[in-house]
Amino acid sequence: MNARLKEHDSCPSIRWRYRSEAPCGLPLSTLKYPPFILEDGSSVPPHGQEHLRVLLRRSAIQRRVREMGRQISRDFRGERLHLIGVLKGASIFLSDLIRAINLEVSLDFMAVSSYGKGSQTSGQVRLTKDLDTSIEGLNVILVEDILDTGLTLHYLRRVLQQRKPKVLRIAALLDKPERRVKEVKADYVGFQIPNEFVVGYGLDYAERYRNLKDVCVLSLPPE
Ligand code: IMP
Ligand code: MG
Repeated sequence: MNARLKEHDSCPSIRWRYRSEAPCGLPLSTLKYPPFILEDGSSVPPHGQEHLRVLLRRSAIQRRVREMGRQISRDFRGERLHLIGVLKGASIFLSDLIRAINLEVSLDFMAVSSYGKGSQTSGQVRLTKDLDTSIEGLNVILVEDILDTGLTLHYLRRVLQQRKPKVLRIAALLDKPERRVKEVKADYVGFQIPNEFVVGYGLDYAERYRNLKDVCVLSLPPE
């Protein structure tokens, strides 16, 4: 059994540990796939020498996303809404947000790629997946995982404005204002965070960690 298991409020795997048996009554040691929980309560083992530290707990994220959904529902009361998720990072946030909105909502996705090597972007954004349907005359909220330099949302906002939506708003789970290069403001922000590289709840590093329930700061080993 993993020695780093520790208590966490909402994780059933942890309750198993406290009972020292799975809900089915089997001792944990007999489970073929025992739950692997990190010290910090995240449920994905770090890769190699990478280190994860929880920045936003899952309970805080869930609370905030519900609040954002309530606020959006109030702002657009009596109207129809069209959410556009930016793949892939926003998919987890979007799936929680849409269920917190108490209105008639439709959904579409876009995907972009930025030219550049590693974490350095050249500033050029390219559309790799366009919308399935027109947004003309619709109340649109563009849903993104994180607003960082602003290059992506600056580009997408311009592309979408040209298509004449009735209203275009931006919802971002996270905002790193220190890193801004292009002026973009989100209308709905979950959390403002310091200039750290974060993963989890949809955000990745080399496609890993999207399935972490908490948002964690990722530290890489020295090269
Ligand atoms: P921007 O164009 O610089 O604002 O960056 C937006 C995109 O960069 C996001 O959609 C993310 O995919 C990625 N990104 C920026 N900061 C982070 C981070 O801390 N962790 C993971 N991805 C990030
Ligand atoms: Mg993204």
